Amino acid sequence: MEPVKAIEMKDICKAFGSVKANEDVNLTVYNGEIHALLGENGAGKSTLVNMLSGIYTPDSGFISVYDQEVHFASPKDSIKKGIGMIHQHFKLVDVLSAQENIILGSSKDGAFVKRKKLAQEIKKLSDQYGLDINPNKKVYEMSVGEKESLEIIKVLYRGAKILIMDEPTAVLTPQEIKRLFEIIRNMKKQGCAIIIITHKLNEVMEISDRVTVLRKGKTVGTVNTNEVEVQALIEMMVGKKIDLAITKEEIAEKELLMKVDGLYVVNQDKKHALKDISFSLYSHEILGVAGVAGSGQKELCETIAGLNPAEKGRVFFEGENILGKTPQEIIRLGIRMGFIPEDRLGMGLIGSMDIVDNIILKDYQNAPGMFLKRSRYHEKANRIVNRLDIQTPGIFYPVKKLSGGNIQKVLLGREIDSDPRVLITAYPVRGLDIGASLTIYDLLNEQKRKGVGILFIGEDLDVLIDLCDRVMVFCGGEVMGIVDPKKVTKEEIGLLMAGGRMGEGVRHEVV
Ligand SMILES: Nc1ncnc2c1ncn2[C@@H]1O[C@H](COP(=O)(O)OP(=O)(O)OP(=O)(O)O)[C@@H](O)[C@H]1O
Ligand SMILES: [Mg+2]
Repeated sequence: MEPVKAIEMKDICKAFGSVKANEDVNLTVYNGEIHALLGENGAGKSTLVNMLSGIYTPDSGFISVYDQEVHFASPKDSIKKGIGMIHQHFKLVDVLSAQENIILGSSKDGAFVKRKKLAQEIKKLSDQYGLDINPNKKVYEMSVGEKESLEIIKVLYRGAKILIMDEPTAVLTPQEIKRLFEIIRNMKKQGCAIIIITHKLNEVMEISDRVTVLRKGKTVGTVNTNEVEVQALIEMMVGKKIDLAITKEEIAEKELLMKVDGLYVVNQDKKHALKDISFSLYSHEILGVAGVAGSGQKELCETIAGLNPAEKGRVFFEGENILGKTPQEIIRLGIRMGFIPEDRLGMGLIGSMDIVDNIILKDYQNAPGMFLKRSRYHEKANRIVNRLDIQTPGIFYPVKKLSGGNIQKVLLGREIDSDPRVLITAYPVRGLDIGASLTIYDLLNEQKRKGVGILFIGEDLDVLIDLCDRVMVFCGGEVMGIVDPKKVTKEEIGLLMAGGRMGEGVRHEVV
């Protein structure tokens, strides 16, 4: 039997002013297929799928859905054709329940939907695709994984048979990703067509049937996943071979920079987010923090940065207890935090402002009232753009018009360029392509050589092992152990992350 063509995009062009985001792009996706879309930051992936979901209209080219040419004037038209888009930034209403979010904006059955019938339908969809959702739970009480499931049910309820996911795994934990992949596989079994965008090549290899690679707005090609090697995909993406090795330099020179001693933090529910945390951070080192998301990493960063009060304990920086100081005072001491949040635009960047103003903004916050010379910042902005290879028409371009990964580079570049003494960075490569991720690791190594003490909150254990001098493992707000990555295996770190104590099956302790 001939496979059913769910989507066909032919010779699609889309420009934003002088930026050619898509140039003659071709993409075909069949029913029962999981199709990965791969490409560097700014390659045009989001732009392409946003034309399928009716957010943008192509300048030229054709789109067919089930062999019928379509012209979407709005997302509504796309939904009517059975296309469901799950955006990187969830579009859920926090104060409403799962059930209320599902009916919201749906035209099904008119405005009136009987609660009982809806609950039955949600249950049916959940069972059919293996989703697990409590219809009465409020969105603000949900984990990122639950929100993802809710977004999926929402589009399924509207009758979607073609599902598009733009970087769904970027902010999920490994366990949540596993569950999402099961759901996606179920949808495939039921004959749905799925397009997934991800920068993680192991995910592409694991979940997709075919891959289409974009480079600088153009289609490089479509390949069968089981007939291609990771290296070949990278070459298609970047246009050349790249060395994936992460370097680690041993630097003997070390001086104590920061000492955290018996730190306790309680969260909003009056539960302990951090319990008796003690560790030292030295100059010339990258101290990794491993742990499943939500094990206290966020609270640790925020408490050190002065954004979160502690219940008790002390944080010494160069001999002085800095707990209780304001974020500004802490920044002035040279402690910088580059936290890559779930919502990239939410944290410290203003989308409508250009790159220069976003850099000025940070310095202004640190020294309010100070007279800032704008021209000095042109140089700084250019330096950051060049160093991180930020793709932008210029430094006066509004940040919100950059691609997701490039927005993130602005955020991180700004922190690194401020000559910190201590750099706290959480998930800095989320959403970055492979080349950009390697650039970030190089930049962190460069900071380490300069003597900066770096606290690196990571999620990829291979990277933590390859990059860090020591790895501190968190579980449930406690430190399970601090290990030398040269002497432990990934499995041993995994054991500690799951709550195993040092000594119980784990061999090495480093103080
Ligand atoms: N609304 C817009 N206005 C102006 N330029 C835009 C807009 N949306 C995207 N662009 C530009 O189009 C190009 C492609 O962006 P797009 O978001 O499609 O990339 P992407 O492949 O999704 O990248 P990433 O992996 O970083 O998310 C980028 O150069 C970006 O700056
Ligand atoms: Mg994108």
